[in-house]
Amino acid sequence: KIKQVDAYQIFDSRGNPTVEVEVTLENGITGYGLVPSGASTGQFEALELRDNDKAKFRGKSVFNALTHIKTEIASLLIGESVFDQSQIDRKMIALDGTPNKSRLGANAILGVSMAVSKAGANTKGVPLYAYLGEDKGNLIPLNEIQILGGGAHADWVNDIQDFLVIAIGAKSYEETLEITHNIYHAAGKVMKAYGKCVGIADEGGWWPDYKTNEEPFEILLEAINKAGYVAGKDVAISLDIAASDLYDGNNYNLPLDKMSYTPNEFYKLIKSWCEKYPIISIEDPFADTDINNWKRFEAEMGTKIQIIGDDLFTTNIKRIEWGIEQKLANSVLIKLNQIGTVTETIEAIRLTQEVGWLPVISARSGETEDAFISHLAVATNAGQLKVGSFARSERMVKWNENIRIQRHLGKQAKFIGSDIYKTILK
Ligand code: PGA
Ligand code: ZN
Repeated sequence: KIKQVDAYQIFDSRGNPTVEVEVTLENGITGYGLVPSGASTGQFEALELRDNDKAKFRGKSVFNALTHIKTEIASLLIGESVFDQSQIDRKMIALDGTPNKSRLGANAILGVSMAVSKAGANTKGVPLYAYLGEDKGNLIPLNEIQILGGGAHADWVNDIQDFLVIAIGAKSYEETLEITHNIYHAAGKVMKAYGKCVGIADEGGWWPDYKTNEEPFEILLEAINKAGYVAGKDVAISLDIAASDLYDGNNYNLPLDKMSYTPNEFYKLIKSWCEKYPIISIEDPFADTDINNWKRFEAEMGTKIQIIGDDLFTTNIKRIEWGIEQKLANSVLIKLNQIGTVTETIEAIRLTQEVGWLPVISARSGETEDAFISHLAVATNAGQLKVGSFARSERMVKWNENIRIQRHLGKQAKFIGSDIYKTILK
């Protein structure tokens, strides 16, 4: 039974305040919840409650969320069984009483929800993946790893947010890491040679200084080649366009190219990139309100390429259901803090899988030293994990945790790599 729910402010990978929750049980066992934070957030996400008091941490402190945890949420949950995760999550949703968790804050609710899961796993004495997956999770995910960062994560020096690689030829989890390691470092060298490297973006990818939006494709292909791999065979390109950030309601604006595209022109541009480069996956190719383009793209490209809705769905079951009905995509990006409870996140993953779409478990650009999502990916047999780049410990902790989970699973561990795409690609 839950004895105490405490909360305090910690700091994320950008050095911004975030929530940490400590749940203590009557048996003395504890569980912790560390809440991540996005920068290119979707308009349909659950609300991250910040104090907005300019005098405190530039408006970013989370003391109101902490107060909600220590008062209302604590008195709601003290005495509850730690194993009643879904009941606990539903009680918090009801206590909040808003559709987007804006009264108590999704960061408050999620921190508690994660801490309760961990305290449950600790009480059973099993790893989190085994607890969350009720011993049915054993699939080590294929990694989607950022090489070049941009957009909102690199002060808008270029327009496209993520240039990532997926090691489609890898036969093991270790091999995905080896391939990515080699490409990441090759890309750094290539960029330095061109004098294009400004630094490291928010998720650890190289921060570029390009003249056009196509330049990073060429640099990435050169890096893959220099690292000794064949693009399209050993490794494929994956993009997160984060297109809602480019769309003004009428046009898509790409300042780096000094271009403004109508939705129809932008559709053609995205499609031409998909035909020209070995792209296996594309996330948010269109804005979350540009539904016609999503429909058309899924109809034309949906059996050739993974089409992921991030800002489009925001891990929200109602939005995913609508997307399935409207045939808008074939995959869903899954972020715990977009929806705000562990229970709803797992329901979103299950719904995605039931209809033959793929869930991609994802970190945020503002991350913590916690590896909850690595466990979530294995627990649900999601098959794919996106964590940002292959540098910085808030990223590496997630990749490394899967090495540990795989060891712990021993012979039970499975890796199917890019065979996961057989579900959606023909
Ligand atoms: P965010 O970006 O965490 O800043 O929202 C990640 C993404 O768009 O996938
Ligand atoms: Zn995204």
